[in-house]
Amino acid sequence: MASIIHPHDNSDAPVDEHFQSWAIIQSGKAGKFRFKTIMPGAYPYQAKLEDQRTPHIHMKIGKHGYEPVITQMYFPDQAQNKTDGLLQRKTKEQQAMMTA
Ligand SMILES: [Fe+2]
Repeated sequence: MASIIHPHDNSDAPVDEHFQSWAIIQSGKAGKFRFKTIMPGAYPYQAKLEDQRTPHIHMKIGKHGYEPVITQMYFPDQAQNKTDGLLQRKTKEQQAMMTA
């Protein structure tokens, strides 16, 4: 398993060599899927330490013949959820749909 370093990662934080960082998952006929991962951490947004992205997982959901949906999955009870600029642009209903 190879670790993939994001091309825009300019952090000097240590890299977890056991973390794959992405996967392709096929859903069942009902559209359900599962995956197991680690809890992501917050990270500085646009290299500003005071501006943290809340923990989230990027997702691209697609089906042959349809435009893919690119979104992010958030976690409840994260302190940074209240200040994350991208999450706060969403309506409360959208935030609820995007939170696991
Ligand atoms: Fe991200």
